[in-house]
Amino acid sequence: MCGIVAYIGTREAYPILIKGLQRLEYRGYDSAGVALLNGDLNVYKKAGKVVDLEAYVGAQDTHATMGIGHTRWATHGVPNDCNAHPHLSYSGNLALIHNGIIENYESLKTELQRRGYLFQSDTDTEVLVNLIEEIKKQEGVELEDAVRIALNEVVGAYAIVVMEKGKEDKLIAARKGSPLVIGIGENEFFVASDASPIIEFTKNVVYLEDQEYAVINRDGHFTLKTLGNVETTPSIQKLEMNLEAIEKGGFDHFMLKEIYEQPRAVADALRGRMSASGGWIKLGGVVEYEKRILNADRLLIAACGTSWHSGLLAEYLIEDVARMSVEVEYASEFRYRNPVVDHEDVMIAISQSGETADTLAAIELAKERGALIYGICNVIGSSIARVSHAGSYTHAGPEIGVASTKAFSTQVAILTLMALQIGEAKGTIPTSRLREILFELENIPAKIEETLKLNDQILEIAKTYKDATNFLYLGRGVNFPVALEGALKLKEISYIHAEGYPAAEMKHGPIALIDENMPVVILATNRSAYEKIVSNVQEVKARKGKVIAIVNKGDRQIKGLADHVIEVPETEDILAPLVTIVPLQLLSYHIAILRGCNVDQPRNLAKSVTVE
Ligand code: AGP
Ligand code: GLU
Repeated sequence: MCGIVAYIGTREAYPILIKGLQRLEYRGYDSAGVALLNGDLNVYKKAGKVVDLEAYVGAQDTHATMGIGHTRWATHGVPNDCNAHPHLSYSGNLALIHNGIIENYESLKTELQRRGYLFQSDTDTEVLVNLIEEIKKQEGVELEDAVRIALNEVVGAYAIVVMEKGKEDKLIAARKGSPLVIGIGENEFFVASDASPIIEFTKNVVYLEDQEYAVINRDGHFTLKTLGNVETTPSIQKLEMNLEAIEKGGFDHFMLKEIYEQPRAVADALRGRMSASGGWIKLGGVVEYEKRILNADRLLIAACGTSWHSGLLAEYLIEDVARMSVEVEYASEFRYRNPVVDHEDVMIAISQSGETADTLAAIELAKERGALIYGICNVIGSSIARVSHAGSYTHAGPEIGVASTKAFSTQVAILTLMALQIGEAKGTIPTSRLREILFELENIPAKIEETLKLNDQILEIAKTYKDATNFLYLGRGVNFPVALEGALKLKEISYIHAEGYPAAEMKHGPIALIDENMPVVILATNRSAYEKIVSNVQEVKARKGKVIAIVNKGDRQIKGLADHVIEVPETEDILAPLVTIVPLQLLSYHIAILRGCNVDQPRNLAKSVTVE
């Protein structure tokens, strides 16, 4: 949620900030702004996208070699020009950008108002910048101290960057709960929410730890301190990401590019972790904590959104193959119950970004109560990856489209390996069966590739249903979480109301919704429940619903009943989701494009939700 970028050095800051904001726009895009310091402290901000900001700035003087920029995902106050960041302090001397929420902003605001501060915006951020200003008024308090003292007074989550008029030699950056990375160049520094604005200038970076702040000086040195004012030693890392990975590479949208990257992404997720001919699977984290995992009372899975769907799928896989009891939790709910968790439990936390606040909070609680945390994340070095005891990266590469696609399939690939590895260690899966599945798993990238060739057919189906107001998605067994994921994809990018249901549950209620205007997507690849699915198709047809069925290649029976069949390559039932999700991603993509929606930046959403 929200993108932060800052620069101090010898180049013109404005183009670096604008380009950086464009790269970060997936994180938030309801308004954007920059502040430039060059004697004067000039702030330009605008509701809308980064292009609107650029148009607004136009030919105005932007000359400056330091500045801060922000693309917002509003939490407090509507997205308008005034609530956009950067926010200036009351005197106009401090400018601040903020990602996160200041939870106690109301009481702080009341106190500041009592002391004569007037507020321009409705944001919690403006309270923080004024709190820093108020603290700085005290004798001998430098900007750095004021920031530290203020941050010790606020409750909430943040990543911030602050600069001060008259102090053109320094930027202060701090984080608690929201990511921030510093890029180290030759006599220049970059600060950003992720490495994408930095990558083209330097590969040397430092990830700020939680509750740490940095004083970044123009003369080429910087210091890191904890919020307790203790200096820490920076660990400088080399970025491995390349520029190409964060650009569209000839596709119209990131989402489409990422859908098409799935054969490669799934292959990368599996690489080095299994061999069908060798008959082995090895997720390092599972090996390291094997005893603890095998002896666990149960596995708890915590995640949100798409990651929750892959968690639900993992429940089917692990229970089936490894015979362990699994509970899948919405991370956001988990923490607000009084869940029964102890040191016998293992929590698998799944997150593309590794920064989702709800998931982090669930981990914190489970960790406090003694559970082992196994993180499955895509973003390397992310908060969840760092707080986990063990884990596996999904290696999907940067996912920029707000709607998760390759993150889902790579999570599923890892969770499949995990289920098989635990099953093997527990002896709940015969070796011969394990080999069969591993051979088939190796074929999956090619089968995804083959499924992508159905794109033109799916576009035609999309044209037929683009004006529907509702959609149902039905699936059984492992295809049920896929139905939920297909419905989520459609909702989030095309704004069509869609529900995913277990196919057999339809007759307990949702069947009432079916009439000639209701498209029903039915996942019908499961060999084990095929006849039952055929009956579900008949039930929908009997009520004049329109059936779009995802079937195995060569299927006859459903072909004769459904309005449209999408024939995907057949695979092992438990691996089917890796194939069946692909047509659903393409269907929602095309419907959204035909409806004129912005698929990479759907309304109201942000790529990573770093607030609870
Ligand atoms: C996916 O399409 C969504 N935009 C969203 O549900 C997402 O999966 C969720 O916010 C979790 O994010 P994470 O995987 O980064 O933790
Ligand atoms: N809470 C702040 C606001 O509403 C920051 C939101 C963000 O992270 O973009 O402006």
